[in-house]
Amino acid sequence: MKPKHHFLVCMNQRPEGHPRGSCGSLGARPLFEAFQAEVEWRNLFETVQVTGTFCLGPCDQGPTVVVYPEGVWYGRVTAADVTELLDAHLAQRGAVQRLQLA
Ligand code: FES
Repeated sequence: MKPKHHFLVCMNQRPEGHPRGSCGSLGARPLFEAFQAEVEWRNLFETVQVTGTFCLGPCDQGPTVVVYPEGVWYGRVTAADVTELLDAHLAQRGAVQRLQLA
């Protein structure tokens, strides 16, 4: 079954002190776990897929999340933002502006 919304969460982890930093160092693991917990809590398995990825590009603004089919890119996403992101995309209200990457 194809999900209606696919959330890609960058989980890339670079070593401490790496000049590019990484989403893994900026809280990607608790963010990913929050997505998983919320999808499970709401029983959204047929609607939403959450996939951890390697580097998506804007490392210094991570953790990075990309949502398809909307094609929206988010930065500095935290676990506290998960409910708002799921609500906005499931209701097709468009992107959450305050988290959107330019
Ligand atoms: S490490 Fe996440 S975007 Fe590069």
